[in-house]
Amino acid sequence: MSIAGSTALVTGASRGIGRACAESLASKGVKVTIVDLLDCSETVEAIAALGGKADQGICDVADEQSVKAVFERHFAVPGRLDFLVHCAGIIHERPLLETPIDEFDKVIAVNLRGTFLIGREALRCMSTTGSGRVVLTSSDMGYYGRETFSPYVASKHGVMGLVRSWAKEFAPAITVNALCPGPIDTAMLDTQNMSPDWRERELDIPLRRFGQPEEIAEMATFLCGEGGAYITGQGIGINGGSVMP
Ligand SMILES: NC(=O)c1ccc[n+]([C@@H]2O[C@H](COP(=O)([O-])OP(=O)(O)OC[C@H]3O[C@@H](n4cnc5c(N)ncnc54)[C@H](O)[C@@H]3O)[C@@H](O)[C@H]2O)c1
Repeated sequence: MSIAGSTALVTGASRGIGRACAESLASKGVKVTIVDLLDCSETVEAIAALGGKADQGICDVADEQSVKAVFERHFAVPGRLDFLVHCAGIIHERPLLETPIDEFDKVIAVNLRGTFLIGREALRCMSTTGSGRVVLTSSDMGYYGRETFSPYVASKHGVMGLVRSWAKEFAPAITVNALCPGPIDTAMLDTQNMSPDWRERELDIPLRRFGQPEEIAEMATFLCGEGGAYITGQGIGINGGSVMP
């Protein structure tokens, strides 16, 4: 089974893991729609350079109307959506006792509410055709607790709850899984919202290096292809051994 000619929605695709996923799918002949809070022109150009095709849009995944507008514009009935690869997300590192409630609300809004909103509309769309693959993004922190990251950890555990519930609710027609990356070399790890020794601490894993966004994209594309047919309800670790559940 080739995935060429299929359609995909990739979120968080202006950079990092989302961009790599969009490029990987496009390189296999998938027609991708890419959305982000930020402009995705560089991703569109990179995909064109690969000989692929992409539409882009601005979307705040935490905002219901913004999410619905993406589906009305790009996947209105009888439109077809074969794959969702949902990568948009944010992170903050802060000790609990210094964490304002607004920061907790924001992380949960983008990472968990955003996953709920995008996933719900994608599954609505896929339900009309009776097939599809949903690939969400949790984290290795979706498996364990981590000091000074509790809102992020809670959001990524929440994503795993959605994965396991939706995988049962939409089986056998549609598979639902999550990528669970370890530390990946993206702008997220350079953010000012992390402590200065973050990168050094993250290297304390068996493979002793950060992953590359392309290594996560390989797994996303695999899950959308023939190899992913019998995988559902899973959090797939691509993590250099950072967690061994
Ligand atoms: N980089 C890592 O080490 C790592 C590890 C585990 C999990 N993850 C997860 O992988 C996903 C991608 O992370 P990344 O490393 O590529 O980060 P990144 O910061 O490079 O990219 C995230 C993208 O999401 C977009 N985004 C943020 N808020 C949004 C919103 N409300 N609506 C739409 N788009 C929004 C950003 O504009 C950005 O383009 C995230 O869900 C992240 O939690 C990353």
